Amino acid sequence: MRRREAGLLCGRRPHVGGSGGWLLLLAVLSLAGCQPYVQVSTAAREAYEPLEGFVVRMNFMPRKPSADEGRKIYEARCAVCHGPEGRGDGPMAEQLTAPEKNPYTDFLSVFRIHPKTEPLPSRPARFDNLDQMRLNAPFAMFETIARGRPHTAMPGFQHPAYGAVDGGKPYLSDQEIWDVLFWEWSRTTSRDRLAQGRRIYNQLCASCHGVAGDGNGPEAARIREQVWTWARGVGPGIFTDRDWMAYRNPTELYQRIAEGVHRRGLELMPAYAGKLSADQIWTVVEYLWTFVYTPPQDLR
Ligand code: HEC
Ligand code: HEC
Repeated sequence: MRRREAGLLCGRRPHVGGSGGWLLLLAVLSLAGCQPYVQVSTAAREAYEPLEGFVVRMNFMPRKPSADEGRKIYEARCAVCHGPEGRGDGPMAEQLTAPEKNPYTDFLSVFRIHPKTEPLPSRPARFDNLDQMRLNAPFAMFETIARGRPHTAMPGFQHPAYGAVDGGKPYLSDQEIWDVLFWEWSRTTSRDRLAQGRRIYNQLCASCHGVAGDGNGPEAARIREQVWTWARGVGPGIFTDRDWMAYRNPTELYQRIAEGVHRRGLELMPAYAGKLSADQIWTVVEYLWTFVYTPPQDLR
């Protein structure tokens, strides 16, 4: 919650009258509920404001994000915490702490009591954690890398709002952030799985979606008359539309493939739930992302 909104919510302070004890308790509880504030340094806030409602367009980039380029940045900047293979076991991982995240001391600080306690640990994310990664959209990761994450050890690398590095100076360019996050993304799959996904895709999906994922398969002419976004070569099902795909997460794509797409009584895409196993669908989902980024050498 931003400081101003928090102030509005917490601003009503009851008068302490006859039943003062109860009201005082209420006031304490409502104040405690509003703790802690997210501490945003002035320098960081200035760097952060221009990002209000920001949209980063990937299709305007000079090239597709490259996991191999990202790997170099990853090894220089991220491996100390996230570990060489993204398993959250870098040399610094054990020492990391979560700033201002301790319900006990946060509550006492309302009364200006600051007891000495051990700070809580902050564990770096693991990029081989499928439960987490399959719910991540690339853009959500972009935001975390650009701004950092409050109350954790994750610093911001572009417009740091939380845990500023380098006094809020730009650190990684948009292209560098996409490169590095797709290196992390590539840790969720393997060479064999991508090969299996490609086989299924070319056999079942390319007739509509096109071998290149651009919605130019032999059946696409018919679809372009039914789906206006396909006529424009953008939007759902056009996997080369990186701006669209940046906001999708693997679980949503899985769901569309399992359930198919039906609209106004038309079957735009058949359901594959009974025809492919869950794991086969996941391999196709993993393959679909290769239309968005160039996979690293070790997966090709
Ligand atoms: C100082 C240690 C540190 C460094 C350096 C660091 N991270 Fe992190 N990162 C963390 C921690 C800790 C978390 C877990 C935050 C949480 O608990 O939600 C995290 C979380 C993330 C997440 C969110 C993952 C998710 O699924 O929510 C991404 C993405 C990420 N880091 C990318 C990067 C990238 C890219 C770099 C290098 C450019 C980097 N990190 C450098 C400590 C670090
Ligand atoms: C008969 C043509 C056809 C076939 C075959 C087909 N699709 Fe589709 N698919 C579509 C159309 C059309 C859409 C876009 C529907 C819309 O506008 O929401 C779509 C949408 C999708 C989406 C949703 C994208 C998003 O961002 O919401 C995914 C994922 C997808 N298809 C994957 C597949 C996969 C994987 C296969 C093969 C196993 C496949 N499709 C086979 C026509 C087809």
